[in-house]
Amino acid sequence: MAEYNKLTPELLAELESIVGTENFSAGDDVNEDYSHDEMPIYGSQMPEAVVLPNNTQEVSAIMKLCNENNIPVTVRGAGTGLCGGSTPLHGGVVLCTMNMNQILSYDMNNLCVTIQPGVRLCDLAADALDHGLMYPPDPGEKTGSVGGNVSTNAGGMRAVKYGTTRDYVLAMTVVLPSGEIMELGRSVTKTSSGYSLLHLMIGSEGTLGVITELTMKLIPNPKEDMSFILPFVDINTAISAVPKIKLAGLDPQSIEFMERDIVDSSAEYLGRQVFPINVNGNEVGGYILVTLSGNDADELYQRAEVLAEVGMDCGAFDVLVVDQPSLKKDVWAARSAFLTVIEAETKYIDEMDVVVPVDKIAEFLESAHKIGKKHGMRIRSFGHAGDGNLHIYCCSNNKTEEEFKAAAKLVMIDSYKKCAELKGQVSGEHAIGHAKKEYLRESVGETAYGLMGAIKQVFDPKGILNPGKVCNDL
Ligand code: LAC
Ligand code: ZN
Repeated sequence: MAEYNKLTPELLAELESIVGTENFSAGDDVNEDYSHDEMPIYGSQMPEAVVLPNNTQEVSAIMKLCNENNIPVTVRGAGTGLCGGSTPLHGGVVLCTMNMNQILSYDMNNLCVTIQPGVRLCDLAADALDHGLMYPPDPGEKTGSVGGNVSTNAGGMRAVKYGTTRDYVLAMTVVLPSGEIMELGRSVTKTSSGYSLLHLMIGSEGTLGVITELTMKLIPNPKEDMSFILPFVDINTAISAVPKIKLAGLDPQSIEFMERDIVDSSAEYLGRQVFPINVNGNEVGGYILVTLSGNDADELYQRAEVLAEVGMDCGAFDVLVVDQPSLKKDVWAARSAFLTVIEAETKYIDEMDVVVPVDKIAEFLESAHKIGKKHGMRIRSFGHAGDGNLHIYCCSNNKTEEEFKAAAKLVMIDSYKKCAELKGQVSGEHAIGHAKKEYLRESVGETAYGLMGAIKQVFDPKGILNPGKVCNDL
């Protein structure tokens, strides 16, 4: 267990002078929001101070000061994480990057953009579109920061075609715990140049260094896209269509799945029904939502026809084209807000973000429902069917917090066991934080877990950066 120091009045004054009074708070003035992310059920802890630096130099000065004085530092962006990754377990300093929210420059020749880490995903996506470009990663939570997306290797709804955040990071500026400033990567599309420290930093959840600038790859915005709702009798039938859609060479941009009860809750929350619940006289039990994209409308129509054939062969009641632009926007906004909808009607939530081979999704889902039943927990789910990445929520409105946590733990243990049996991974995109650490360890085994810990030790010998997360037991 590392020994940390408390912030003395002198250290607090130094921190305040680095970032300026308006970007500093301490003690009782710290906003409670900084004590947790979007899953306070995993515990919360007030930091002693919060700093919102404005640039790399300020981050460097903060890190140097904290490293020299053994003060833990937890970096956070918008705080939309789902596994306690930005909870300052040991108090100390929360370093929030949200003041560093500038889109700095576009490089239209090399198709990339340089930004500060506190730029929100929705702002980058909209700004890129204004330049005729697409920023492909599309996680559900649009208000999360891109720095946070990089730190968790967020995936989202277009990963089936374009890959995850990792695939769009070309370069970054990082401040090491010592305060040293380092450049990783370049604006190039290939590299075989030694160990990729860049890729080690991606997904490291603020445990190895502080990202202060990012160069992200963009693509020309596809000229055309079409979305389709495929309603089925139940979720298993819906999901059985996924490998077939992929095999048909349709190059889908997204294949999402949703259970009927989420659609009902969403309609109630939004006050309107964007997904049909009865199609051609059939009661719908499960859906997939597919987007095809490309530059040639005729070619897209051809692919749409094949999708219709494959969908109907797989038992879809219909293949509904979401043709009105406003409806398309509503459908995808509704999909993006599913978690918000569940949160709104649930007292206690725990979640799993497993990823399994695509042909094992149905088996995992069925098992999760059985396990939930066994432990008296309501299971709700939706997710990225095209990637095998499922969001499974344990929900309860009538248990006490203790009862809920005990039952959720049992659901998690049984479900991660099933995930391992199906050769899946603990997290597809939400990452590990401290909530999923023991499951990561179990999943990757002692040798890999030990190597992760050894890497952490090399970057951060004093263990001051985001202690207690991912692979360190502090
Ligand atoms: C989503 C988030 C929860 O897919 O990952 O909406
Ligand atoms: Zn997701």
